[in-house]
Amino acid sequence: MEIKTLTLQGSAGQSDILIGRGLLSEAAARCLSVFSPSRVHIVSDSIVAPLYLEQLKGQFQLPVTATVLPAGEEHKRLSAVETIYHDLLAAGMTRKDLVIALGGGVVGDITGFAASSFLRGVPLCQIPTTLLAQVDSSVGGKTGVDLPEGKNLVGAFYQPRLVLIDPNVLSTLPPETYADGMAEVIKYGCIANRALLDQIGHDDIENIVYECVKIKRDVVQQDEHDTGLRMILNFGHTIGHACEKLENYVGLTHGQAVAVGMVAAMRLSNALGAPEDLSGPLADILQANGLPTVLTHDREAVFNALLSDKKKFGSTVNFILVRDLGKAEIVPVEAERLHELLLKI
Ligand code: GLY
Repeated sequence: MEIKTLTLQGSAGQSDILIGRGLLSEAAARCLSVFSPSRVHIVSDSIVAPLYLEQLKGQFQLPVTATVLPAGEEHKRLSAVETIYHDLLAAGMTRKDLVIALGGGVVGDITGFAASSFLRGVPLCQIPTTLLAQVDSSVGGKTGVDLPEGKNLVGAFYQPRLVLIDPNVLSTLPPETYADGMAEVIKYGCIANRALLDQIGHDDIENIVYECVKIKRDVVQQDEHDTGLRMILNFGHTIGHACEKLENYVGLTHGQAVAVGMVAAMRLSNALGAPEDLSGPLADILQANGLPTVLTHDREAVFNALLSDKKKFGSTVNFILVRDLGKAEIVPVEAERLHELLLKI
């Protein structure tokens, strides 16, 4: 089995990221070469557990317990974290033992936060099972849950010591969930590696995941705590988050919202100095990957939703622009100017 390895040097230690087809079938051996637990607790959800939980559990010669959360973003809340704490205590987990997140972004974020705070921190392995989690949320240490007031408002930066990425598991994804991850893949191409855009649809997904994770690793390593450069990972997300919010997080998936947001951000990039309007070619790639591209929401409503988002500082909004494909810039834009431009795109 060919395994590609990336190492992320975080402020609190190293995170090893392994990518390879079939890795899930040797996950326990990989874990035991890094951790020395007396027991293991796996957190998964009601969609992923029936597919992979028994296969993973059966590999350990140690006591293994599990929490199976109900699937869905609406369950990404503090009560899920509390459920995990109770299960960890009932299982007798100590600070030496291992917590594994087996699932998509929601499972990873909740489990990461539980691991960061249980007994003030227990070892964590992420095994992401969606494309979005493989290329984005399982890497870089952002963990957390939503509050009724907004998404990801409570959480911690907590690097998993190990991330095991098996592209074979992507074969069981519904097409819409796969497309969601492709929106993030296309984002990486726009912000950091235009050659990646040509790889899509031609190269093995394993190589594409590797290239995306490499970009994320490089960005996080320079700005782990999201005070500057890491913001470029939010290309398309400022308008995208606003649309998601206007749809009460049910009308559009995250990837669909980011797709629409990236096309709009590309138009804004052109209005703010990009020599060429790259929104057309970007829309073609998104469409070919089953993603929407047209911002159908009322612009005033988008502007208001965007202003209430956390990326606004004073009268300016930190906007991620791509004026040259493969290169992102963080540009403070006056709120009034943004308002004006939004009405035109
Ligand atoms: N998903 C954006 C970040 O990890 O910073």
